[in-house]
Amino acid sequence: MRILVTAGPTREPIDPVRYITNRSSGRMGYALAGAAAHEGHHVILVSGPTSLDVPPGVDFIPVETAQEMYDTVRSLCDRTDIAILCAAVADYRPIAVADQKIKKTGDKLTLELEKTPDILGSMRSDFGYTGILVGFAAETQNIEQYAHDKLIRKQCDLIVANDVSRKDIGFDSSQNEVLLITADGAEPLPKDTKEHIAMEIISRASGIIPH
Ligand code: C5P
Repeated sequence: MRILVTAGPTREPIDPVRYITNRSSGRMGYALAGAAAHEGHHVILVSGPTSLDVPPGVDFIPVETAQEMYDTVRSLCDRTDIAILCAAVADYRPIAVADQKIKKTGDKLTLELEKTPDILGSMRSDFGYTGILVGFAAETQNIEQYAHDKLIRKQCDLIVANDVSRKDIGFDSSQNEVLLITADGAEPLPKDTKEHIAMEIISRASGIIPH
C-alpha cells in the first residue's frame, strides 16, 4: 500500500532569524514511517524539522511551515491508500513575517497570530481524500471524549490519542501509551516504545476497509 505519514513540528517564521515551534521530536511519525517501510509498504514521509535520520526505504519530503505541509499533503493524497497525520502542526502563525530582523526597541512586543490550515480537517472535505485516515490527538484531559469528537468531526477511521500532560510518554519521549479510538470504541495499548506502538498502528490501519 502507499502510505503517507506527516511528522515532526512545523516552524512558523517571525522574522529571518526567529520562529514559533513546539516540542515535537518527530519520533512517533518516524517510527510509523519506518515500521510501514519494514512491512513492505511504499512510504512517503512529509516532515517538519527534526534531528532524526530518515528510516531506510522511506521517500522523504522535508517541509518547514504548516502551509508547506498542507500544500505537499494536498498534492500527494490522491495517490495514497493510508494517510497517517502525526505531525504536531503549529495551530497559529504570525500574520506578518518581518523582512528584516526585528530590533529590540520597546519593553514589550506583540505578535499577531492567525490560524494555520487544518490539514487533517481538510482531507475529506477539501481534498476529497477517500483512503484510510488516521489522526492523532494530544490531550491533557477528557482524552477519550475529545478524541472521539475529533474522529467524527474530521471523518477519520482511527484516532491515536495520548495524554501529553504525562512526562514519561508522548512529546519528546521514546515511549508512548495510547488509546486507539474508532467508531467501535476505545482500546488502550499498553505503554511501550514508539517503534512497537508504530508497528501496531500500521497493522491496524492496513486492516481497515476504506469506505
Ligand atoms: O485538532 P488537533 O490539532 O488536536 O488535531 C491533531 C491532529 O490533527 C493530528 O493528527 C495532527 O497531525 C493534525 N493536524 C493537522 N493540521 C493542523 C493541526 C493538526 O493535520 N493544522
